[in-house]
Amino acid sequence: MNTYARIDALSPGTFALDGEEVDFGPGESILQAATRAGHYIPHLCWHPDFGAKGSCRLCTVRINGRMGAACTVQAASGQEVESNTDDLNAQRKILLQMMFIEGNHFCPSCEKSGNCRLQATAYDVGMEGPHFEEFYPQRRVDASHPDLLLDLNRCILCGLCVRASQEADGKDVFAIGGYGIKTHLLVNSPSGQMADSALLPNDRAANICPVGAILHKRQGFVIPIGKRQFDKLPVSQQTEEGKP
Ligand code: SF4
Ligand code: FES
Repeated sequence: MNTYARIDALSPGTFALDGEEVDFGPGESILQAATRAGHYIPHLCWHPDFGAKGSCRLCTVRINGRMGAACTVQAASGQEVESNTDDLNAQRKILLQMMFIEGNHFCPSCEKSGNCRLQATAYDVGMEGPHFEEFYPQRRVDASHPDLLLDLNRCILCGLCVRASQEADGKDVFAIGGYGIKTHLLVNSPSGQMADSALLPNDRAANICPVGAILHKRQGFVIPIGKRQFDKLPVSQQTEEGKP
């Protein structure tokens, strides 16, 4: 980034998102500014309360003709940003299909169904099936904690629990380790089990998972199917206020 561009990014201004003008504040990313202004850009690994990680790539937009992750690219005056286009949504659908086949996601039997951002985003881009052959990986379930369950079959490695534990809870309960297809979520405790960790049910890290990987025990169907967050409105029509 040259000096002028850096000064520009640190000053407030406006950019165009799918032809509509969006105001941004100093240092805001395109996704932060768009969300604050009530615009939806699909995303899974970003949350307005935490730093961006840029791992899911679902928020990829075209910025002055070049691809970039809206959660990590700073807003700057005069940017022409395209997000809701047929080609970008088609690419998002492929990304989502790959996420589904890479883990074990069985929505009809998942307690998170209707509150799951992965499921809601897939519906929103018109995904009707996995398209690719499923991996059906062997992943562990950690039911050791008296109040919480960790099911790695559903983990999409968004890293939100890692950041929430560090940035909001002042702990370091989760980490992401391994490489490539073996990348996985780790629990920082002597046994590697949640029961031995510092995680508590009220921790932000225990309440931020966008999918059904971290769940509270004995609460799965307190809100019945049909009355959940994404049963009411598609994800693209909801503001960030509904987020945990
Ligand atoms: Fe993200 Fe949930 Fe996996 Fe943590 S457990 S990395 S919040 S999907
Ligand atoms: Fe931007 Fe995941 S939300 S990369």
